[in-house]
Order: sequence, then C-alpha cells, then structure tokens
Amino acid sequence: MSDLEFDLAVIGGGPAGYVAAIRGAQLGMRTVCIEKRDALGGTCLNVGCIPSKALLHSSERYAEVCDDLAGHGIRVGGLELDLATMMQRKRDVVADLTKGIAFLLDKNEVTHLHGTARFGAAGPDSKEVVVDLAEGGSRSVTARNVLIATGSESSPLAGVEVDEKRIVSSTGALALESVPETMIVIGAGVIGLELGSVWSRLGAQVKVIEFLDHILPGMDREVTRQAQRILKKQGLEFELSQKVVGATADDSGVSLQVEPVAGGEARGLRADVVLLAVGRRPFTAGLGLEQIGVATDERGFIVVDPSFSTTVPGVFAIGDCIPGPMLAHKAEDDGVVCVEMIAGQSGHVDYDLVPGVVYTHPEIAGVGKTEERLQSEGVEYRIGKFPFSANSRGRAIGETDGFAKVLADAATDRILGVHIIGPLAGDVLTEAVIAMEYGATAEDIARTCHAHPAMGEALREAALAVADRAIHI
Ligand code: NAI
Repeated sequence: MSDLEFDLAVIGGGPAGYVAAIRGAQLGMRTVCIEKRDALGGTCLNVGCIPSKALLHSSERYAEVCDDLAGHGIRVGGLELDLATMMQRKRDVVADLTKGIAFLLDKNEVTHLHGTARFGAAGPDSKEVVVDLAEGGSRSVTARNVLIATGSESSPLAGVEVDEKRIVSSTGALALESVPETMIVIGAGVIGLELGSVWSRLGAQVKVIEFLDHILPGMDREVTRQAQRILKKQGLEFELSQKVVGATADDSGVSLQVEPVAGGEARGLRADVVLLAVGRRPFTAGLGLEQIGVATDERGFIVVDPSFSTTVPGVFAIGDCIPGPMLAHKAEDDGVVCVEMIAGQSGHVDYDLVPGVVYTHPEIAGVGKTEERLQSEGVEYRIGKFPFSANSRGRAIGETDGFAKVLADAATDRILGVHIIGPLAGDVLTEAVIAMEYGATAEDIARTCHAHPAMGEALREAALAVADRAIHI
C-alpha cells in the first residue's frame, strides 16, 4: 500500500529530473523527486560538468601564470601548485550548487526523497514506485505520472578495468590526489580532451589514444583539425586510429596494450594513470523496467515517442537515458517540455539545435549541421569564416587562436550550422543558436549591430563572409 500520493514522481535528481520536478510543481502538480545520491544535481553537478569546469578554470589560471603573464609585463616569482586547495575549491563549488538545488526544490514545495527507486505495481491510472531509503527502510509512492530521469554511466571497455585509482573514469580523474607524471587518456572525446587538458596544464605528460582517425567525433572536421593542432602545441600528444585492447594496473602504474585499428602488432605503453573516456551509456539498472513493460532499444536507451512517453502510458523518460545528445542542457529542456505536455500544453525539443561546447582552451563550440553532414545530405551551402587573429578584442587579450564559421543554405541564405573554435566560443555560439531557432539568414546576423570590441564580432564577420563581404580581413 502506498503511503505517499503524487501527481508526478520523478526518478533522478540530475539536470533532467530536478528541472522537471520544479516545472511540474510550478504547473500545480504535487511532485516528488527521488534521488539516491547524497546530493542533488546528478552526474553533471557532482562528478561531471561543474567539478570539471572548476578544475579547468583553476588549471587554466595556473597555466596562464606559468606561460603567459610575462608577455603582459607581469612577472611572478615563487609559483607553487597547491592541488589540495584546488580540489577543495572544486568541492566547495559543487557543495554550494547542490545546496542551491535542494533550496529550489524546497521553495517549489517538491518533496525530496533520498533513496533508490524501483517500479512496483503499475495500474492504468497510477503507478507505484518503491523507494529504498538511504537512511534505511522503504516508502511506497503512487503517482499518476512517473518520469524516469536516471541518466547515464561511463561505458566500460573490455580488458580495461576501472579501479578509480590507477585506471580512472571521469569521476576518479576529477579527484586525483597528486599530479601524475604521465597520463594516458583512452578516447579523444569531450571528457578525454577536457580532463586531459586539466592534468596536462598541471604538469602531467598526457597522451591521448583515439580509435578514429580524428578527434571529437561528430563535430565539424575543420574545427577539430584546428583543435588538435592547438592542443598539440599545448603539450597533448595524440595517437589516432589506435585501439586499446587491454590494461593492467600495478603499484607503480598501468601497462597498456595498443593495436592499430587497421591491424598489426600490439605495442605496450606505460603510464602512471589511465583515464578511460570512451563514451557513456544509459543507466536504468534496478528500475524494474521489464517488469512493467517499459521497452528499451538494443543499446539500452528507453524507447520514447515525441511526447517522451514510454511504451507504458503514464511513464515518461527524459535526459541521458533516452536517445539524443547526452548533454545536461538538452536533458533540462526534455524535462520542461515533457512536464508541460503532461499538463496539456504543447512542446518540442529540436535536437538539431542543441549546442555542444568543449571547455578546452580555446573553447570549441558548434550547433546545427557540420560541413560533413551537409555534404552527405547533398545540400548546397556557402561558407563564411573569420579568424580570431583579426578580431580586435582577441588581439587585445592575446587570444588569437581559432575562427568562427557560418554555413548557410546556398539558395536561401538560412543558417544551417555554426562552428567556432576560439575565446569564449561557447558564449559567442548562443547568439547563433537563437538566430537559428528563429530561422535567421546569414544576412540577418551580418546586419545586426554587434558591440565593439567583442568576440561576437568574429561571428558577425563570418556571417558577412558568407556573401564575400567581411570587412576586417
Ligand atoms: P565521447 O563519445 O565524446 O568520446 C569517446 C571517444 O572515445 C570517441 O572519440 C571514440 O571514438 C573513442 N573510443 C571509443 N572506443 C575506443 C577505444 N577502444 N580506444 C580508443 N578510443 C576509443 O565520450 P566521452 O568523452 O566519454 O563523453 C561522454 C559524454 O559526456 C558525451 O556524450 C559528452 O557529450 C558528454 N560530456 C559533455 C561535456 C560538455 O558538454 N562539455 C563534458 C563532458 C562530457
């Protein structure tokens, strides 16, 4: 028998779940949010986006003082790295933000249960969710609508067992107690490059092994080629078209076996620490999905229709556990739209306009279609490009690496994709996302007044360049 009744039960307190819970409460639903972690915020806040951005920022400051300040006429002596304080700052940032989410749930009168949820009985009008409480015991919750927002976990790799000491996932790589002399990163994706950058800046010699013949799969190739050149200059070493087939950890480090993807002899490599970053997979273990008939696809993602409804009426799924970009901001949008549709409103998340940002230095950001995708679809397009070396703000602050690139339909001038590598690329991109959401043309951006001197002027010049009329190059 249920001892708690709700309109909406949200399983998972990450960006998908807590945002959906708040929106549900705003819409007048009696809402419960169930989270098994001690703190709200999910992977993103506890062991993902936020702690990594804290360390990226701290390590960037350190690298700046080490390498760049003398050129500004600032000489610093007695420089010392205090890793323990850097890690404590990261923990403080995370703790403040997780407390902020608890406050928001409270403010919106969302009930927060700290425990692990699984499905119980599922009737046509209400579903039972059993919560094994962290403090012991269990509660039974019934709700008219249940929203699964259980996220994702690091994908494993055969022959490479994560112990979070010598062979680490992103979680372990965010909490190393000392700077390793050597680090091997398996996978040149977003996590590999962000966390590889952190430890490289702090003094580790970092080698990245990638299965494909290029880094950052899915992003515009011209941008990723430039990214690889810049990261190499910063000290990261890349081995492409190589696969790791085994790793053994011992007291002093890790021995890896690496093979060329095209075939050939395996080689041995050695490093103090290995970071495994070969992607993430949906996390739905222990929910009892089969028991109530919620279908998953062959890769484990929950099957949903455009209203986020699973194969069981009244059960919805959002975020990393359904197909689509595995990104916190996409998960938040899923949550809002799903709950609004449950409340009878209409909505839609356009997965083609979800921006992606890699927080290396410089940042790498993109939205919409890449050149490769346009070519494979046979779309005629025009390109406008502008380098940050010709952007006055970039020059003033000494950030001249990279460019902004606008891809526009050759016939209509409508913007189809924007890809940027350069200073504050993620923030500059937001303007492009809004423009594309409103169906803007390159000329629309080109004719919009941009503040001077600002990084955003590079995007305007790239939009002008689509019609061969950039001014500053
Ligand atoms: P990813 O999918 O971005 O990259 C994984 C890389 O590993 C790929 O390049 C793949 O080809 C390579 N790989 C796979 N098997 C391999 C093998 N055996 N040997 C060598 N290379 C191999 O996955 P990642 O970096 O683990 O990130 C997971 C998810 O988290 C992604 O969806 C990402 O978008 C998200 N994320 C987003 C961030 C952001 O928005 N800034 C930050 C961190 C993660």
